Amino acid sequence: MNITVTGGAGFIGSHLVDLLIKNGHQVLVVDSLEKQVHGDKKPDYLNPKAKYIFDRYEKTSVMDRWVKGTDVLVHLAALVGVGQSMYQIKKYVSGNTMATAKMLQYLLNKKNPIAKILVASSMSIYGEGEYFCEEHGLVYPHLRPEKQFSEHDWEMGCSLCDHKVTPVGTTERKPLFPTSVYAVTKRDQEELVHAYGHSYDISTTALRFFNVYGERQSLSNPYTGVLAIFASRLLNNNRPVIYEDGKQSRDFIHVSDIVEGIYAAIRAEAAGHFSLNLGTGKRTTIKKIATILRNELSPETGLEITSAFRSGDIRHCFADMHHTKRVLKFHSKVKISDGLHRYVRWLARQKPEDNFIKAQKELQKKGLV
Ligand SMILES: NC(=O)c1ccc[n+]([C@@H]2O[C@H](COP(=O)([O-])OP(=O)(O)OC[C@H]3O[C@@H](n4cnc5c(N)ncnc54)[C@H](O)[C@@H]3O)[C@@H](O)[C@H]2O)c1
Ligand SMILES: [Zn+2]
Repeated sequence: MNITVTGGAGFIGSHLVDLLIKNGHQVLVVDSLEKQVHGDKKPDYLNPKAKYIFDRYEKTSVMDRWVKGTDVLVHLAALVGVGQSMYQIKKYVSGNTMATAKMLQYLLNKKNPIAKILVASSMSIYGEGEYFCEEHGLVYPHLRPEKQFSEHDWEMGCSLCDHKVTPVGTTERKPLFPTSVYAVTKRDQEELVHAYGHSYDISTTALRFFNVYGERQSLSNPYTGVLAIFASRLLNNNRPVIYEDGKQSRDFIHVSDIVEGIYAAIRAEAAGHFSLNLGTGKRTTIKKIATILRNELSPETGLEITSAFRSGDIRHCFADMHHTKRVLKFHSKVKISDGLHRYVRWLARQKPEDNFIKAQKELQKKGLV
């Protein structure tokens, strides 16, 4: 199969390219090597058996080069800084939403030459995860009211009564409530691709990635990936900064599992329009993740638990994987302890800059922390 991967020089994309090449596919990568992610140089891990166009995928002159001959498009390219998107609103909407719209317009003008499109979506489009209330059953609360935080009361309450609620796996049916501009643009990318697919009878799959970690995740980009941010701090002997009490939880999935999930979606025969979670179905607290990393990387260093709330932050979200298992026959394999071990072995060979404080100052200036 001829598979084009936008963003294929990035963290997730490059692992996907390796897997596709290993399985005998022809792979074309279109990646603009964004400076914030890659610095000034090409990454040294690029698979030499793939073809590359180092430019923005949505430029007409570039689409003229990559669209023809593509059987399956895996659309991963995006700007990925959640906090940064809150003050670079135009840049994120044009880099993610508008660029995707431009691409779809081009495909339409060329009479829809690609039969199947996969797009990277994100758990961030859910906002808060799904919860269970003793009295009301499944509930979908929005963000916690600010007044809770002055009392350091971090857990989620029911939106219909006063009870505290228990987090449960978030299903794809949960109403979407993106709380950042980045998340809005991920929802846009997903919905644009589906709307296009519906109208012109193209198979589309949006994969809602949960928190992906692993080798090659940019350590210099201080705006993305909590594990990469903690690792950059620890490798510079600085304490990782944890918001709230550290008991907020996420679903951490190793990048090798994510790319297996994407590959399962590429091969899936069912035609239609699917939005599917890609996570492990298990939740881990931020404090636990920080502690494991600290113990491995810099055991003498403490953790800084700030008891502060960061604008837009959610308390818990982890995947319910039933739908994905049914449609893709996929389930994650890498245990968090093994995945972190692999990650730490890779980290030991890196010398990242710690840009956390610089990023933090930007966010503070804008009143976001
Ligand atoms: N890493 C995660 O935890 C996570 C979670 C949910 C969703 N996602 C999504 O997965 C996708 C891949 O993320 P990642 O973590 O590998 O990020 P990444 O920054 O490592 O990779 C994105 C790549 O896209 C490229 N890019 C950006 N804009 C482009 C453009 N206009 N034209 C061509 N290339 C462009 C960048 O240079 C980069 O190489 C993104 O769509 C992201 O929103 C990631
Ligand atoms: Zn209730």
